[in-house]
Amino acid sequence: MKILLFGKNGQVGWELQRSLAVLGDVVALDSHSADLCGDFGNPAGIADTVRALRPDAIVNAAAHTAVDKAESEPDHARLLNAVTPGVLAEESARLGAWLVHYSTDYVFDGSGSRPWTEADAPAPLSVYGRTKLEGERLIQQSGAQHLILRTSWVYAARGGNFAKTMLRLAQERERLTVIDDQWGAPTGADLLADVTAHALRHVLAHPQDAGLYHAVAGGETTWHAYARYVLAQAAKIQPGISIKATEVAPVPTSAFPTPAARPHNSRLDTSRLQAVFGLRLPHWQQGVARMLTEIL
Ligand SMILES: NC(=O)c1ccc[n+]([C@@H]2O[C@H](COP(=O)([O-])OP(=O)(O)OC[C@H]3O[C@@H](n4cnc5c(N)ncnc54)[C@H](OP(=O)(O)O)[C@@H]3O)[C@@H](O)[C@H]2O)c1
Repeated sequence: MKILLFGKNGQVGWELQRSLAVLGDVVALDSHSADLCGDFGNPAGIADTVRALRPDAIVNAAAHTAVDKAESEPDHARLLNAVTPGVLAEESARLGAWLVHYSTDYVFDGSGSRPWTEADAPAPLSVYGRTKLEGERLIQQSGAQHLILRTSWVYAARGGNFAKTMLRLAQERERLTVIDDQWGAPTGADLLADVTAHALRHVLAHPQDAGLYHAVAGGETTWHAYARYVLAQAAKIQPGISIKATEVAPVPTSAFPTPAARPHNSRLDTSRLQAVFGLRLPHWQQGVARMLTEIL
């Protein structure tokens, strides 16, 4: 099987290079790739790449993920998150290739406290959320065989992440303030990449299971409880670590005004994914502890 992977150097793209390798030959591109176009700013170039390579499956981990920046460059965000994924879907449909794509908890408005299911109506609060939702819909309408995995609060050992930022700040400052009224599940890029490989293998044999799924780690937390867990765990892993912060104070979202509004309730119900693919999603703390062990 030939798999074409876009966004190979992102958090999820990097892990997909590993997890997809057992399924076939992976051709992995990023926006700077020289021989084949991997730039989502160039939809015609992306279509040419698909036509030249004729893959059996396309996995798209490229996206405009700068949520606040998207508010001031909505056209660019729409190009990367909706227009080009739509072109990719048309090319996949024409070729009969599978398309795997990622979406986000930010398609929801964050009301209530119940975990969102795939059947719930999206109502995005931000340009990022709106453009990701449009991308989902273009794929669904294209006729391409597809998997769309909505995830949340993605972290990876490689590159910057919330846990690393909290650790750094805790070493510099005596007091941290962290948002405690947004709920979700931190999800490892490694977990998501493994789930992707299992799900792709499953739908190749059971195409009737194609569609939209919520894919996040188990359990739920707030950014505040997540930060406290990171600091406690870091002290356990590395008892000599110097943490200056003696207080991690909970604050409401309103304490940190940002250009893009974020949902308060980002809980995603993963029952469908677990039942259809026979997978178990481990608790978020397990993956975060592993990532901390790796980086400390
Ligand atoms: N991060 C999260 O918390 C989160 C939450 C929910 C859903 N998601 C979704 O999960 C998927 C993977 O996200 P991630 O966390 O892995 O994001 P990421 O680390 O920000 O990676 C995004 C990738 O897109 C690439 N990209 C940016 N502009 C591009 C362009 N013009 N052409 C081609 N590639 C371009 C980036 O490459 P460069 O770095 O080289 O520009 C990067 O490799 C995305 O669909 C995202 O919307 C993420």
